Amino acid sequence: MSIKGSTALITGGTSGIGRAAANKLAQLGVHVLVVGRNVERGEKTVAEIRAAGGKADFIPSDLRDASSARAVARRAVELGNGQVDILINNAGIFPFGPTHEMTEEAFDSVYSLNVKAPYFLVAELAPLMAKRGKGAIVNVSTMVADYGASGMSLYGSSKAAINLLTKAWAAEYGPSGVRVNAVSPGPTRTEGTDAMGKALDQLAAQAPAGRPAMADEIAEAIVFLATDRSSFIHGAKLAVDGGRTAI
Ligand SMILES: NC(=O)c1ccc[n+]([C@@H]2O[C@H](COP(=O)([O-])OP(=O)(O)OC[C@H]3O[C@@H](n4cnc5c(N)ncnc54)[C@H](OP(=O)(O)O)[C@@H]3O)[C@@H](O)[C@H]2O)c1
Repeated sequence: MSIKGSTALITGGTSGIGRAAANKLAQLGVHVLVVGRNVERGEKTVAEIRAAGGKADFIPSDLRDASSARAVARRAVELGNGQVDILINNAGIFPFGPTHEMTEEAFDSVYSLNVKAPYFLVAELAPLMAKRGKGAIVNVSTMVADYGASGMSLYGSSKAAINLLTKAWAAEYGPSGVRVNAVSPGPTRTEGTDAMGKALDQLAAQAPAGRPAMADEIAEAIVFLATDRSSFIHGAKLAVDGGRTAI
């Protein structure tokens, strides 16, 4: 694999699935740029990667507006000496609850982070990748974008948008050498799902695997789609959900 020395921007790379993907890419010799709001957590993530011999930088940002997303992309290009080879759109929030209880603020937050941020990061970075004739974008979706789940209308619909954007961007930038794919996880143990307690196990119990994933198991699929090992895969959504959407 020839990704040693390339640069990857990973949103939400300071926690859970994103951090696991950042660690794995750093182990392959990729310069990883992790984005999040919490500076302490960001610096800790970067320090751990560097201590293990990897190359990493933290870009602090709240990605919920287009100008921040564009600024993060530009900073990433600077840190990558003019190029970002891999973009992992992983940052996401997932407030659950009945549609009639969701506030406008929650709606705007979910769509701003889960849809608008990836949209404008791709708008900034995909054309640069296309100009160089090479790049990989991996969007992190969810299994609940594939079926109707009570209490998950807001979250699931935002990720359903990402599923379509994955195909649209594959059509748009694939002919220029930019592969765009999605990973669609099932319930996964992360800092973000800690608060779900037993509900995470109950959700996981519906799938053939019968248990929640570890973040590393999702990160494996992200790394696969981000590297040349998946060189002929464009516009795909890889279910990493313990088989939940197969049944
Ligand atoms: N865990 C699961 O069961 C599961 C299942 C299916 C899909 N997913 C998807 O996988 C992705 C990662 O999930 P996770 O469980 O690993 O999440 P997590 O542990 O809660 O981490 C979320 C990451 O996103 C960052 N983030 C949150 N709000 C942000 C904002 N406004 N601006 C910039 N960064 C922000 C967080 O950093 P800061 O808080 O410091 O900003 C953190 O690094 C999400 O897209 C999620 O929807 C997760």
